[in-house]
Amino acid sequence: MNKKVAIVTGASSGIGKATAIQLSKDGYTVFAGSRRVEQMKDLEKIGIKVLKLDVTDEKSNQDFVDFVRSASSSIDVIVNSAGYGSLGALEDVPLQEARNQFDVNVFGAMNLTQLIVPIMRKQKSGKIINISSVGGQIYSPLGGWYYASKHALETLSDTLRNELKSFGIDVIIIEPGGTDTGWQEVANKAMKKSTPDNSAYRKLVDKFAAMSSDNYATTPDQIAKLILKAMKDKKPKTRYQPSIQDTMIVLAARKLSYKLFDRVIEGQMKRMMK
Ligand SMILES: NC(=O)c1ccc[n+]([C@@H]2O[C@H](COP(=O)([O-])OP(=O)(O)OC[C@H]3O[C@@H](n4cnc5c(N)ncnc54)[C@H](OP(=O)(O)O)[C@@H]3O)[C@@H](O)[C@H]2O)c1
Repeated sequence: MNKKVAIVTGASSGIGKATAIQLSKDGYTVFAGSRRVEQMKDLEKIGIKVLKLDVTDEKSNQDFVDFVRSASSSIDVIVNSAGYGSLGALEDVPLQEARNQFDVNVFGAMNLTQLIVPIMRKQKSGKIINISSVGGQIYSPLGGWYYASKHALETLSDTLRNELKSFGIDVIIIEPGGTDTGWQEVANKAMKKSTPDNSAYRKLVDKFAAMSSDNYATTPDQIAKLILKAMKDKKPKTRYQPSIQDTMIVLAARKLSYKLFDRVIEGQMKRMMK
């Protein structure tokens, strides 16, 4: 029997890399993509097919899918993990940066999805796994564009799930909270770049950037295992959170009134600024 085929984006680091390895160990033929191919040499060594991919470039997405198609007769899974956090106050973040946030986190994932769905529809099977965030359910200062991109990704995933159900295709959202990857470093860089020296939010930005990031609830390997579990569940949930903390945050956002949730955020901000 032919091996099942999986595509993983954002595979040069963090959750994408761990997922590519996990799926390969589980017997999938894995095609892994990201811009920094040199960061995927370790994947190549264990038999994962590695290709340059910039999800903001439609030609790059098409070339990637064409390559997978030329090498295999099916595409069973796509894990859209490519993404980053564009942080900063909404007054400060340049709109071009905001557009880039959506290009990577939303349009990139959706463009690949558009290219792959016809293949999955013909097969009458497939799994689309979108890596969102607890940020796809919540909001707080400095996270506006990132949260907006993940909220958008979740709404699109929910719509897609209902459009694709009758074709045998599952759409699954993963909602991690703080995870030990390159995310924080990239987000801090983006935040500093988006914040002018004389910003009214300078103190908040500096505090946020200096916050210790070594008390993560989750490792990328744990998320990769969760993704595999979600893929294998006979009746997958719409959303999976990797840790109890992540589930609590999502529950709070869903159950509390907006006013009450504002107060939770206010309390967190006060503690951070102490
Ligand atoms: N870590 C967390 O705390 C956390 C929490 C919730 C959700 N998430 C989400 O999880 C996903 C994976 O992030 P991570 O934590 O694994 O961070 P990471 O270690 O920084 O990995 C991000 C990956 O995205 C890729 N990427 C970025 N822009 C890309 C582009 N234009 N085209 C193709 N690939 C691109 C990067 O590869 P190149 O730079 O080589 O292109 C890298 O492989 C993201 O969607 C993130 O928002 C992370």
